[in-house]
Amino acid sequence: MNSRRKFIKSALTGIVGTSVLPQLSYAGTAHKVISEQLTSDDNSEAYWNMVKNQFSFTNGLHYFNNGSLGPSPTMVRSATNDYRKILDEFPSKYMWGGWNDEKEKVRKQAADLLKTSEEEIAIIHNTTEGMNLIARSFDLKPRDEIILADHEHTSGTIPWQVWQETKGIKIVKPILPIIPKSVDEVVSIYKKAITPKTKIISMCHIVNTNGMTLPVKEVSELAHSKGILVAVDGAQAAGMLDIDLHDMQCDFYAASSHKWLFSPKGVGIFYAKKESQHHLKPLIVCNGHTDKTIRRLENYNTRNLPEVLGLGTALQFHQLIGSKKIEARTMELKSYFRAKFEGNQKYKLKTPVSDELSGAIQTLEVVGMNVNDVKDSLFNKYGIDTRPMSTFGLNGLRISLAIYNTKEDIDYLTDAIETIS
Ligand SMILES: Cc1ncc(COP(=O)(O)O)c(C=O)c1O
Repeated sequence: MNSRRKFIKSALTGIVGTSVLPQLSYAGTAHKVISEQLTSDDNSEAYWNMVKNQFSFTNGLHYFNNGSLGPSPTMVRSATNDYRKILDEFPSKYMWGGWNDEKEKVRKQAADLLKTSEEEIAIIHNTTEGMNLIARSFDLKPRDEIILADHEHTSGTIPWQVWQETKGIKIVKPILPIIPKSVDEVVSIYKKAITPKTKIISMCHIVNTNGMTLPVKEVSELAHSKGILVAVDGAQAAGMLDIDLHDMQCDFYAASSHKWLFSPKGVGIFYAKKESQHHLKPLIVCNGHTDKTIRRLENYNTRNLPEVLGLGTALQFHQLIGSKKIEARTMELKSYFRAKFEGNQKYKLKTPVSDELSGAIQTLEVVGMNVNDVKDSLFNKYGIDTRPMSTFGLNGLRISLAIYNTKEDIDYLTDAIETIS
């Protein structure tokens, strides 16, 4: 039995989360019915409409902005609310040890998602924390070099900029093309930026500007051949792509689960390869900071445990559908969306086309119109939420195509853009 099938079987028979789910209002018949529907091999629009129905939005809102923040499906909301209730009814018990096993289950689920060991996963708050955790751990010397390409998010750049200002390290900033022709082209840009002083390459898995996917595996191979560490900002990729971190070989990977994993807000997953963990120091030092395991990186004393356990339900939701199926649907939605605009002179797609180089985030310029006007018209006239992107001369709408966006939704979006343009 493959691991997904095993998981489904155990989820349905209640083996996964035995000590948690029976306490939850959503864990009974409703959960079983939804679980069975989600695990179906069906890939029809009816199936994806059923997935969409697991989410609910403000009346009249058409949400294409998952890259900014994801919604949680009903089962995740219900479970998290239930965990809040349980905690509030006996605070000291649950905050101080009552949920240790449940928390460890979430760690294992996160490890399974990213195909790593649970001894390589810490449950943090968000990507920003993970990127700080990495940068704050290194005692760099003046003129040591860090490579951060121009499309990196402020979460990954600011911690190093602070070291540049206070310790005199050097940030090397290679310029990435908006539409690279191939993975090799991107790798060669990183290769040229490396010098004998390079200590770390910090890179996004998917950049938040135009949704381009960066070749983490190839850059990690290159970096490791020169003794350089690789830190990855996975905020826009975890939950969207089928990720195998051991295969990708990076040293560190930080992700916010409140985007593409649809978890409660303020929870994140941090990966550190076993052999690279010794580099890391906890950002916050309190009880547990001397723990010999990766758990030393996530001790904050009192914390948002209902959300952490809600992440477990979000991971369960994800696993019931399956990472491969989610990635395949992502690429299907992308092709469906792009086909509406490709070859039309009125538009410019500003995201690379190949599945190696992009996924669910696509950026579209309506030629001759300011992106902010397009964004406002879409929202005011059609209730469509997107993210305008003006940096790098994009003048483009960043459109997120999550699994709750159906082809019918894309028709609605593209008709609205066509009318506005
Ligand atoms: C690429 C990237 N990194 C980091 C972040 C920051 O995420 P968080 O606020 O969850 O830490 C974002 C948020 O949009 C992002 O797109």
